[in-house]
This record gives sequence, C-alpha cells and structure tokens, in this order.
Amino acid sequence: MTMAVYKNTLAPIEDRVADLLARMTLEEKVGQMMQLPADDEANIALLEEWHIGSYLHASGTICTSLQQRALNSRLGIPLLFGIDAIHGHCFEDGSVVFPSQLAMACSWDTELLREAGRITASEVRASGMHWTFSPVLCLGRDTRWGRVGETFGEDPWLVGELAAAMIEGYQGDDLSGEDAILACAKHYVAYGEALGGRDAYEVNLSKRQLKSLFLPPFEKAVKSARAATLMTAYQTIDGLACSANKWLLQNVAKDTWDMDGFIVTDWNNIGSLVDKQGVAQNLKEAAYQGLLAGNDMIMNTPSFFHDAIALVNEGRIGEARIDDSVQRILRCKFRLGLFDEGPENNKRKIPKRDAKSWHASLEASRRSIVLLKNDNLLPINAKTCKKILVVGANANCKIAQLGDWSFGPGSSNLGLHSAETVTLLSALTASAAQNNFSVEYVAGAAPADNTFNEVERAAAAAANADLVIACVGDTQYEYGEYFDRANLTLSGHQQALLEAVKATDTKLAVVFIASKPLAIPWVKDNADAILCAFNPGPKAGVAMEEILFGRYNPSGKLTISFPHCAGQLPVYYNKYSGWHAALAEQLDMRERYVDLPEEPVFSFGFGLSYTAFRYSNLSVVKPVLKKDEHLEVTVVLTNIGERRGVEITQVYVNDLVSSVSTPMKELKAFARAELEAGESAQLRFSLSYDDLSLVNTELERVVELGSFELMIGASSRDEDLLSATFDIVE
Ligand code: NOJ
Repeated sequence: MTMAVYKNTLAPIEDRVADLLARMTLEEKVGQMMQLPADDEANIALLEEWHIGSYLHASGTICTSLQQRALNSRLGIPLLFGIDAIHGHCFEDGSVVFPSQLAMACSWDTELLREAGRITASEVRASGMHWTFSPVLCLGRDTRWGRVGETFGEDPWLVGELAAAMIEGYQGDDLSGEDAILACAKHYVAYGEALGGRDAYEVNLSKRQLKSLFLPPFEKAVKSARAATLMTAYQTIDGLACSANKWLLQNVAKDTWDMDGFIVTDWNNIGSLVDKQGVAQNLKEAAYQGLLAGNDMIMNTPSFFHDAIALVNEGRIGEARIDDSVQRILRCKFRLGLFDEGPENNKRKIPKRDAKSWHASLEASRRSIVLLKNDNLLPINAKTCKKILVVGANANCKIAQLGDWSFGPGSSNLGLHSAETVTLLSALTASAAQNNFSVEYVAGAAPADNTFNEVERAAAAAANADLVIACVGDTQYEYGEYFDRANLTLSGHQQALLEAVKATDTKLAVVFIASKPLAIPWVKDNADAILCAFNPGPKAGVAMEEILFGRYNPSGKLTISFPHCAGQLPVYYNKYSGWHAALAEQLDMRERYVDLPEEPVFSFGFGLSYTAFRYSNLSVVKPVLKKDEHLEVTVVLTNIGERRGVEITQVYVNDLVSSVSTPMKELKAFARAELEAGESAQLRFSLSYDDLSLVNTELERVVELGSFELMIGASSRDEDLLSATFDIVE
C-alpha cells in the first residue's frame, strides 16, 4: 500500500494540504475551523464528534492527551493549541515573563522584541502549544482605553516595526524551527479607536484613515514579517463589524496582501453579530456573514459547527469557501511540523528557562524604563543619602509590576510568578543591607483603594528621611479588557500621599508603575525626578534599583504621550495643524485651550539619560529627489555628558503641500546608538520613496511631488528637532 501524500514528510507542503483536503468530509472540514476554550469539559468532550481543529487556553498536561485523541482520529489531523502568551508564556507559572508590550516598546529595540518573541515561543512550544495571540497592533491613542498597555504605543510606523520584530521572534524563518510558533497580529483593525476609549464600542473612521494609519502596521506584519494569523477585532467601523467586513478580511488581507495563513475571530465575534451588533437575525445568519467576509477559524461560537454545515448543504455557501479556510489552517499545521511530530506533538519538552532567558527579561526591564525628569536628584548619592523612605503600594505590588495577561485566563491565579518577581521594595531592601543606607516602607496609599489611608504616617516618616521614593500608578482592575477609565487621575489616596510627602520638603523621586500614561501633571511639576515603568516585568525591581543608584543609565523613550487630563485627549504627536493657535496667543489663552496647554505633559519620543546628547550637522545628502529614489540623511550625534549612554534618535517627515492634509510630523526612522562620554558618531538614515507617500482621496498610496520637511532629533517635540527641507521633482 502506498503512503498517503499528506503523510509523506518529503512531499511539498502544498501537495500534502491538497491531498488531505481531498480526503476530508464536510464535517471534518468545518471542524478544522472550530476553536473552543479547553477549560470547559463540555468542549473537550466534543473533540471527536465535531473533529475540532483548535483549542485555546489549554493548560498543564491536557495538550498531550487531547493531541493523542486527535491523532487517533480517522485522518489523524493534529490540533492547534492557541494561548495568550503576550509578554512571555505567562499563563504558566515559572515561565520567563517580560515587561508589557507598551513597556518593551519604550526600548525602541527591535532585537529585544525579537528575543522576547523567541524565548516565549520556545516556552509555548515546549508546553505542547503552537500559537500565541500576539502581538497587538492597535494604536494606543486614547489612554482611557483599558488595553493601552497591550499596545506598542501611538505611532503606526513604529508599531509596524516593533510588531514585525516580535513576529519574527515567534515564528523564526519559516515556522519550521523546533521553537517556532504562529504569531497572531491583532486586533484587525482599529480596535483601540473605540469612541471614548470604551473597550469594543463603535469606531468611526473613513477608509482613507484606515489606509493611512491603521492598516499599515498589519500590512507590514503580513507582507514583511509573514504573520501566519490575524485576529478580527470585536467592534464595528462605521457601523460594520470587523468580522463581517469582506473588504477588510478578504479583499485587503487575503487578496491584496497575499496572506496565505488564516484569520481567526476574537472571542465569539460571530455570536456578537446577533446579540451585540444586531446585524444578524440569528446565529446561522451570523455564520453566513462571517463566512462571506473571510473568517477562517471561529473562536468560541459553538453553533458555527452545525450552522456552517447547513449553509453548505443548503447551497448558500459553496464548499470552496470552506476549503479555502481549511487549506489555510492545514498549511500552518504542516509548516509547524505538527503532522510529523508523533503523539506528544511537541518537538522539545524542556523550556529554556535558563539564566540567559532570565537575563533577557531583566535586560528588557532595564531598557523599557524611561527617565522623565531629573532635577539633579538621580543617580542617588549613596554617600549623603542615608535614610530612604519608600511610599506607595506599587513599590511592593507584584501584580502591578507584572501587568495584564500574567495570571491565567481571566486572571484566575494572581499568585503566578510570585517566586521570580522582585519588587522595587525588595531590591532596595537588599541593596540597603549591602550599601550602608536604611530603607523604611510606609505604603501610605494604594491604587484603586479608597479605604487604605496611611497618608499622615507616610508624611511623618518623610519628614525624617533624606529621600522619598514614591511609587504610584495603577493596578489590576484599573486596566485590561473591560476596564477602561473615564478619569485618569491617580486613584485611591495616591495624590494626597504625594502632596503630603512633598509638603515635608524632603527630596521626592516618583517611580510611576502603571499600565499606561495617567494624568500626572502635578507629578511633573513637583517631583524632583520621575521614572516611568509601564508594567515593567518580574525583574524590574532590580532594574529600577540599578537605575536609581546609577549603575544602569536609562535609555527608554516614550512611545505614547501623557495627557494633562482625560479631557485633553487625544494628545498623540502626529496631529494636523489647527488654525486657531495664533488667535489663542492674541487672546492670551493658554495656547489652544482656555484652561490647558496644547502640548501633552510628556511627549512621544521623550526620555532622558544620565548623560546628554547634542545633535549637529544635519545634512540631506541629495535634497532633490526623483521618482523611486531613496532619501539619505546624516546627522552628527555627540555624547556631551560624562558617562556612556544610549540615545534613540528619531526621524520625522512632514509633506508640506499635498492634495490632502497630512500630520505635521510622522515618524519614518529611528536608531539606537551607544556612545562613550565625549564620543561623536555620524548617523545615517535611508528613507525609501514609499516612506514619503500618503493616501489620496482616491484611496491610493502615492508620493506627491513638492517640498517636504525633515526633522531629526531626540523626541517629537519641536525644541528637540533639527530641521531641513528637500524636494521631490518630476
Ligand atoms: C479576547 C481578547 O480580545 C483577545 O485579545 C484574546 O486573544 C482572546 N480573547 C483570547 O483570549
């Protein structure tokens, strides 16, 4: 008997897919499109009857037993296990957890993200799973939204770059490596733009805006990083649910970008077409709409199984439509090597939880932290600073340090990773014992807790200290899916705590440990130094202590702007020019608003170092470009301070006259450079012709002739940028 082609490890993958597809019944095909949560016994019981193709959130040893059952089925098609391993394989205790995505973005370090992806992939794979629902490519432009900490920040170009690196880390070259897993670029698309920052509510964007800002990161993920999967967002755009949007799924992702992987819905998106969005009469009609639009795998809508089969049997959906989805899913299973692995279905059993991986997590924490203010306070002078008072519950809160998606499905186990997590308080206490200073801790106030109030006790202790380190921010249930905030002030008695310790005149360093920017203008005006640590990871206590005492020179820069208050939103940097600014000046208003400055409290791209850098000699190598020519620019960067440091240089472009208005600045390139004290380097940037494009009213991406402004420097703030012009001519 000859071996079936699909079982032949030497046959080309496309032949194996075609051979297997030809052997499958309709029920087996639709089963491949089903993804059910593995934490429900009823779903597990359906494996054979519904020929289930994928489970999510399986834990422990269950993967091996389920996989064995799948391999024993008629065709022996392996299961695909998906998990939200979004900053490490966090649902598993002992895994190497990384800082949140927003935190890691502030490193502007693609190699760091690639490495975090690689390590996560090796852990996911070693636990018998194959697919992470990561990275998030939504833009974090409204900080009221609970999921801002899951994003890479507010800039579409940077999101695309960082996401591509992480995807490459997860997937390896072509998914065939022993540690490779599928990445999932989510949530497709514009989920972060929900009105009012309300999670999963309506979004109103034109196709031109989608094409200008929100689709490009996904395009980069699919076309250059070859992301194997996309996840459709929950919400509607201009009244049309993303999961029922054929233009988005079929026309753009599959046809225009040539995506050969598959599209999974988010949690019960098909059901939501009935009970949330009110566009389908019943679940069967919802399945019909979801199939027409181009969804391939259906997350947790059990009715889809019988409904899809019925729709094909009734002739409303052609079997070719089902085949297209199934071949995409099978292709990924073959690429991962799941058919060729044997019953336990994981090539490597032992996760690489070695010192090197933990070092990568610590290094990620170090590079993620942003120094936002320093009035000659940091690094702490250990010779004169003998009594340190630490206040604020986040100084000793493992949960706030680890961030969302760290504690199992639905945050079911807040005790995970406790053994590996070092809080700032514990790192300072260890350091005090060795370095001859004392640390006193009075929590004083805690985020989200109005009942806990030790403010007076903290103030009394502050009066006797040489330095107060105040850790304020947010914590679990103030961020994450569902948990949006209308008010971005410090919750609980944290503000009162800060004001009380400040009133003692003792020097004040604020360590901001939060999921996302909050409204902290008072902190900017009143603290002597500020460190920003967005859910900075298990080893961040060590990193923060090193930075406070100057053994590590901070280099992070914000990838998201801080508003003065929720009412100032949006404050992203890549805005259009308004025309009332001059009038505001005449009327002696505080810039644009009567009662607030126009600029954010802290701007995109901003971050300080213990050294200082100077930019000079900006030169556009060829200031007149012709079609398809690259733009080459050089600038000299000099470390004018007294110690080695890393500077993140940013390149922005403004199309000065164009057929449609464009933002006054758009990031197009960046570089991290490490320089010794006194050292200079010439940095060279090359922007492709396409980097200078815009989307016109015909929805075409084009480069328009004319003059452009180029800006290079330390942040998106005008005062930090050198500027030059160039022209594109016929
Ligand atoms: C819902 C979330 O929106 C999505 O990000 C996540 O991957 C899925 N649930 C699976 O947990």
